[in-house]
Amino acid sequence: MAHWVSGEVAGLKRWTERLYSLQLHADIAPFRAGQFTRLALEIEGEMVGRPYSFINGPADPLHEFYFIVVPGGPLTARLIRLQPGDGIFVAPRAAGFFVLDEVPDADTLWMLSTGTALGPFLSILTTHELWQRYRQVVLVHAVRTADELTYRDRIQAALAAHAGQLQYVPFVSREAVPHALQGRVTAALESGALEARVGLPLTAEHSQVMICGNPAMVSDTQAVLEARGLKKNRRREPGQITTEQYWKT
Ligand SMILES: Cc1cc2nc3c(=O)[nH]c(=O)nc-3n(C[C@H](O)[C@H](O)[C@H](O)COP(=O)(O)OP(=O)(O)OC[C@H]3O[C@@H](n4cnc5c(N)ncnc54)[C@H](O)[C@@H]3O)c2cc1C
Ligand SMILES: NC(=O)c1ccc[n+]([C@@H]2O[C@H](COP(=O)([O-])OP(=O)(O)OC[C@H]3O[C@@H](n4cnc5c(N)ncnc54)[C@H](OP(=O)(O)O)[C@@H]3O)[C@@H](O)[C@H]2O)c1
Repeated sequence: MAHWVSGEVAGLKRWTERLYSLQLHADIAPFRAGQFTRLALEIEGEMVGRPYSFINGPADPLHEFYFIVVPGGPLTARLIRLQPGDGIFVAPRAAGFFVLDEVPDADTLWMLSTGTALGPFLSILTTHELWQRYRQVVLVHAVRTADELTYRDRIQAALAAHAGQLQYVPFVSREAVPHALQGRVTAALESGALEARVGLPLTAEHSQVMICGNPAMVSDTQAVLEARGLKKNRRREPGQITTEQYWKT
């Protein structure tokens, strides 16, 4: 199997100064919703590749990735200069275990994300399995400012298609926004504000929780949940918490 497949950029959408979505075509192996692949460009004679979660559903042949420009980051600075028709390298096979196959059944699936880690959940929202296995689904997107609450059209479409089964809870931490909860997910879990907003209990008995994004948020949220009796989900010892971190602290 070749190390990289040659893909072709189909589009680049700019949401804010730092947030972008990249669409591309590439002949790669099928993936599972929640997985990531690696995208790479040749930069000064070296192949620079990084992992990115698929945003599109597995059935959609147009691949999409949602990323933030990291100051001083070699790849993201180049990704934002891409234009339709440009070449980009893509790993031939997806990877990762942040997928529903790894999450036990429950009444409610809580999907907690910060920033660009909304992405894998958008992919999972497209699967039939999600709606068959969980009676209630809660999608949380935590960002700093209101303009970072992206993909509202796609989320609205999912809310309309799954009325009564899906709830969307935006969190904005650095400004007051009428429809969003203010502050951090961790604080809202500790105070009960998140459960009050959705009208569902987050307990070990009834819930599974997937957490993705900022590593500090992932580990702090895990600690809050562990304090109320939830456990990390492991293949040999199923629990309730499944996590993926986007970078190392
Ligand atoms: C499993 C996995 C999936 C990922 N999926 C995505 C995704 O869908 N979208 C996305 O934007 N990023 C994602 N990332 C991060 C991504 O792989 C790159 O690290 C990031 O885009 C920066 O690349 P870079 O070459 O510009 O800088 P790098 O050299 O990779 O990073 C420089 C530094 O920036 C910090 N950093 C890295 N990623 C982020 C980030 N997302 N937000 C804030 N700080 C960061 C780290 O401290 C890192 O050391 C994922 C990472 C992992 C491990
Ligand atoms: N978005 C920007 O304009 C910006 C600018 C410069 C650098 N960056 C860098 O880019 C990276 C990703 O940025 P991002 O925009 O995705 O934002 P982020 O820093 O990951 O924050 C996203 C959300 O997660 C919350 N959060 C952070 N740490 C948490 C924790 N330990 N527990 C609970 N919630 C937590 C934030 O709350 P708080 O607001 O309370 O932290 C915010 O609501 C970060 O490394 C950041 O340093 C981003």
